[in-house]
Amino acid sequence: MGNALVVVDLQEGFVNEKTEQTAHDIKDLVEGAVFDPVVFTRFRNSEFSPHRQFLGWDRLLREDEYRLWREIEPLAKDVFDKASYTSLTPEFRHRLFTQNIDTVFVAGLDTDCCVLKTASDLFESGVRAVVLADFCASNGGEKSHKAGLLALRRLIGRNNIIEGISDLSELKDYVARNFGQNTPIIIPEVTPLAPDSLTLTDAYDRAWSLMSQAVSSSLKPTLLPTIATSRGDNPSIRVVVLREATQQEGTLSFFTDVRTEKVKEIKRNNFVALCLYDQNSNSQIIARGEAFLHHDDELAKKAFSKVPSSSLGAYMSDLPSGTPRETAHSGLPDRIVQFGGEASDRNEAYRNFCLVQVRLSDLEFATLSPDRGWMRARFEINQGTERGVWVTP
Ligand SMILES: Cc1cc2nc3c(=O)[nH]c(=O)nc-3n(C[C@H](O)[C@H](O)[C@H](O)COP(=O)(O)O)c2cc1C
Repeated sequence: MGNALVVVDLQEGFVNEKTEQTAHDIKDLVEGAVFDPVVFTRFRNSEFSPHRQFLGWDRLLREDEYRLWREIEPLAKDVFDKASYTSLTPEFRHRLFTQNIDTVFVAGLDTDCCVLKTASDLFESGVRAVVLADFCASNGGEKSHKAGLLALRRLIGRNNIIEGISDLSELKDYVARNFGQNTPIIIPEVTPLAPDSLTLTDAYDRAWSLMSQAVSSSLKPTLLPTIATSRGDNPSIRVVVLREATQQEGTLSFFTDVRTEKVKEIKRNNFVALCLYDQNSNSQIIARGEAFLHHDDELAKKAFSKVPSSSLGAYMSDLPSGTPRETAHSGLPDRIVQFGGEASDRNEAYRNFCLVQVRLSDLEFATLSPDRGWMRARFEINQGTERGVWVTP
């Protein structure tokens, strides 16, 4: 996992007497190679944009306004166009995932508009956003800049705003101390999976890296695994959210309600299979192993302590899942909105909470990608140590 800097909307049409000093500071920041990679965003207004329709704002339509600030343009190799306040476009999300970036430092214009929206969207997508306050400014002036920071402190947390450190070597040290980056790191593109260059260890690590991504971020809904259990002689499957993937132990974990069918099925036969598909790399992971249920024990307690109030409802339905009802209804009390409970609901939710830990005995990783090659590898896992073979896809 790595870091990146995004320079938001440092464009001709946004650089003026209110923002020019900050623009120069950002240029120094980029030239100082404090962060690597550095990506740039560029806002383009359009005829039917909400900015025109609802604000009557006609700027940034012409190239002389939307082009990057002329002094930064030669340094900007990696530019993402956008038509929104947020920088989190599908292309940008894709980049974060293919380069395993989990912390994004944000600089640029305007603190109270695109910087704020970008940072809070990253935050809500499970990516750590850190705003470099001394490298942001607003076309609304100092008051708007300050208002943006005030809101950001509440939105993403004050320890995710770096303020009062404009000296580059001081900033470098601060980032290294607090975000574990001693020197700028080059984050490689996703390892090409050409069969002739790929080792079994690469394939195994790649599979675990994908499973870790599935855990660490809600940005990637395509990485929800399906888990299969046995219902008597028949298969039984459903989607779950992966909560932990520990390569060293060879375990995968998810949470469930202890009253569900899958829990009953695991009690009868704890051999399960999980399947996970990554649309990005056109890869499939199939993992098999024994599932262990943790209900009201030390591990369950520890796992439940990390369940946020916003998810308590997942363990609070009045009747077990699968019970027939007269109408379409969540089974949750009316006061619970979108699964979110309150601190006083924790005991009730905990009664139904169950941690399921799957100790893997084997894992398959297959990629059928035109540009990354076709391959399939099968691994036996014993106490976290793997032994792999290539098989025909
Ligand atoms: C997006 C999504 C995520 C889900 N995540 C979970 C989960 O983490 N754990 C879980 O037990 N059920 C989860 N479910 C619900 C299950 O898919 C399933 O419907 C429910 O657990 C009952 O399954 P069972 O009766 O086969 O045990 C999720 C459903 C969806 C649509």
